[in-house]
Amino acid sequence: MVLRIALLGVCLGMVAQAQRNSFEPGQVWLDTEGKPIQAHAAGILVRNGVYYWYGQDMTFGAENKVGVSCYSSRDLYNWKREGTALPKEALPEQFRDTGVCERPKVLFNERTGKYVMWMHLDADKYTVSEAGVAVADKPEGPFRFVRRFRPLKYDYGYKPDCCNQRELGNTFRDMNLFLDDDGRAYVFYASEHNRTMYVARLNEDFTGIEEPAVLGKTWARILIGEEREAPAPFKYQGKYYLFTSGCTGWLPNKAALSVASNPLGPYVTQKEYPMVGPDAELTFRAQSTFVLPVQGKPGAFILLLDRWNPKQLSESRYVWLPFRVAADGTVRVVWRDRWDLSVFDKELR
Ligand code: GAL
Repeated sequence: MVLRIALLGVCLGMVAQAQRNSFEPGQVWLDTEGKPIQAHAAGILVRNGVYYWYGQDMTFGAENKVGVSCYSSRDLYNWKREGTALPKEALPEQFRDTGVCERPKVLFNERTGKYVMWMHLDADKYTVSEAGVAVADKPEGPFRFVRRFRPLKYDYGYKPDCCNQRELGNTFRDMNLFLDDDGRAYVFYASEHNRTMYVARLNEDFTGIEEPAVLGKTWARILIGEEREAPAPFKYQGKYYLFTSGCTGWLPNKAALSVASNPLGPYVTQKEYPMVGPDAELTFRAQSTFVLPVQGKPGAFILLLDRWNPKQLSESRYVWLPFRVAADGTVRVVWRDRWDLSVFDKELR
């Protein structure tokens, strides 16, 4: 009897775990156990042929009630939950429960052999605005919390604001990491109370920025005064591209794609609007979080976005869409209800 029940359980499990072979942007996405994937504001690390998806676990709604989750996959369609890579308990108390730990991104550091996670830590209505760094020996964690800080202090003509920038350094909010082909890494983040984006080269072990910080040499102010966030950088044929969103909280707005010849910029926003399809003007009702170069398909990329549900953040959905960069450097991201990686062999050749 016990065996029969066990067998039945296995069979039912197999039904729930039916292999996926396509992406369905905006639909519920189940993991290999049949549970909805909880990894919002995602970042993806590729290591030894495995993709690792990190994100905010918002099972219990807004703020940091759980921590940063990690899922793994070999095919990008089917994801196995590896656990909570950075549990909220690993963070200073201020950033648990009513605080936030947002947009986690992970890089592998060849020099130290460590996995390094950066995140946006915040509390008190987004006025603390700091970077957090955590380190692990394995991609799935557990990550050990290393530090919290505002990486740069630069007098841009401070005006009185919420966040004591003159005293404490310039705010650190929506962020991303980018690893260049030469092994150097960069952090992109919305600063100056979200008016201007910063990009700063990381130090050798990736746990801080390169010091001493020199404007124009180790870091730069980009998209100055443009009020952009949700940075999602990528590189193609020597050019550095950066998707961003406007600053409207959980509500969708119009994306932009900016391009530079150097990671530190200057970045020039492209005139051609990249999104095509229903609600394209609202970035398909979603917000950028990451660009993933598809392994083994040079020039093939996936744009990862979050379709936030402000009424119930745990019900926010993932929107993944494929694209290529055209010979003239333009990008078109076209909405699809359903697609698979063969689009890169057919339409997106
Ligand atoms: C957005 C940001 C999200 C989150 C949200 C909170 O602007 O991109 O990561 O911080 O605001 O309202």
